Amino acid sequence: MSTTALLKIDDKEFKLPVIVGSEGEKAIDISKLRAETGHITYDDGFGNTGSCTSAVTYIDGDVGILRYRGYPIEQLAENSSFVETSYLVMNGELPTAAQRSGFSKLLTQHAPLREGMLRFIQSFPRDSHPMAVLSATINALGAYYPHLASNNHQRDLEHFDEAAAIAISKVRTIAAHSFRVSNGVPFNYPRPNFGYCENFLHLMFSEPYNEYIATSEVAQALNLFLLLHADHEQNCSTSTVKMVASAGANLFASVSAGVNALWGPLHGGANMAVIQMLENIHADGDDGTKFIQAAKTGKGDRLMGFGHRVYKNYDPRAKIIKASFYKALASLGIKNDPLLDIAMKLEEVALSDDYFISRKLYPNVDFYSGLIMRAIGIPSNMFTVMFAIGRMPGWIAQWREVAQNPKIKIYRPRQIYTGKTIRNYVAMDKR
Ligand code: CMC
Repeated sequence: MSTTALLKIDDKEFKLPVIVGSEGEKAIDISKLRAETGHITYDDGFGNTGSCTSAVTYIDGDVGILRYRGYPIEQLAENSSFVETSYLVMNGELPTAAQRSGFSKLLTQHAPLREGMLRFIQSFPRDSHPMAVLSATINALGAYYPHLASNNHQRDLEHFDEAAAIAISKVRTIAAHSFRVSNGVPFNYPRPNFGYCENFLHLMFSEPYNEYIATSEVAQALNLFLLLHADHEQNCSTSTVKMVASAGANLFASVSAGVNALWGPLHGGANMAVIQMLENIHADGDDGTKFIQAAKTGKGDRLMGFGHRVYKNYDPRAKIIKASFYKALASLGIKNDPLLDIAMKLEEVALSDDYFISRKLYPNVDFYSGLIMRAIGIPSNMFTVMFAIGRMPGWIAQWREVAQNPKIKIYRPRQIYTGKTIRNYVAMDKR
């Protein structure tokens, strides 16, 4: 296999090293390109750009493969839990029994929020979007735990286990509290005897007069949802986390930036947009056929929950979530859901339509995940928050890779300037 690529500019040839990943992915190393040729590369949206090497997640989007630390997502979905998978993603190996129970203890210990943080969350207006509350409060963790947020990677890494457990445990408490505050109801306190997902559902839905005890099917559906979101290599929010981390920023500052990136409708906001789309189609009396026709013209709305920058095949997470969906619905006693009927119709029509086939647009994880959340009783403005809870271990693992890299360079892309060339300042009375 060739270990160099040849680049010819005018009459000069340059040799560029080729690097190969552990799954045979090949990349042309252009780190000396500008110094040697005076040129930079142009790659709108970074679709052909590897920003780092990483040992966390492997995706082959053409065939629909997703693996965390080498383990196929299907095997983890079948056998693991969100907490165990979080440990795997962050530490590289599945935990031993002792490591697993130590991690659970840390999560339990860090579940409650300090009084000041509770007041901080209460101070937001009632109609605040929970993503705004989430990112602000996660960033505020750096103020409450300054010894974990020194902005010196070496020192921050010495406390990595504690900071990671705080982020993973508290993101769930903050999320539930932001929901409670927006409903004008008092916070619940985490229960040390509940598992991660049961505790989240208790924090969300328990009332003083009626404690919410999740059925095992509902807790399992939530577990699966979070596990499937645990990491997805260099997507928009993760790249944002790494961008912030590359300047030396602490874990909390970096992952709160990830929350903000995730909020966008083309990324983590898509699960909420899917439900809005299904509701609009239902309100229009359409079964999905009219909507698909409009989406194809490029003038109508996009078919949300379809298409992916990396997957040019069925997103493996969508397959798993779809299969588990019916079990969760049955346990919740939901028999007829008109939105589900519309979703099925949209999928059926799109998968046999040349527009979607030729562009390799398949359902992504968000197509069915919103329906699961909705069935559990999570309001749609909380869907992206749920994605953020799930993605936390991935952001942490990828922050760690940056922090541990002794050769890390600040992320600083270049640009092709297309603005005005030099001109002289014009006085106010001459403009
Ligand atoms: N509905 C209709 N047409 C689409 C869609 C869609 N959902 N997605 C892409 N296209 C068309 C697009 O108009 C373009 O057509 P043409 O070649 O004629 O101009 C072609 O397909 C390629 O699209 P693109 O925007 O260049 O593709 P991209 O890789 O930049 O975008 C995407 C990927 C996910 C942003 C896009 O597919 C999209 O907007 N999907 C809907 C939003 C969504 O479901 N997002 C969740 C992504 S999964 C969660 C995550 O991992 O973050």
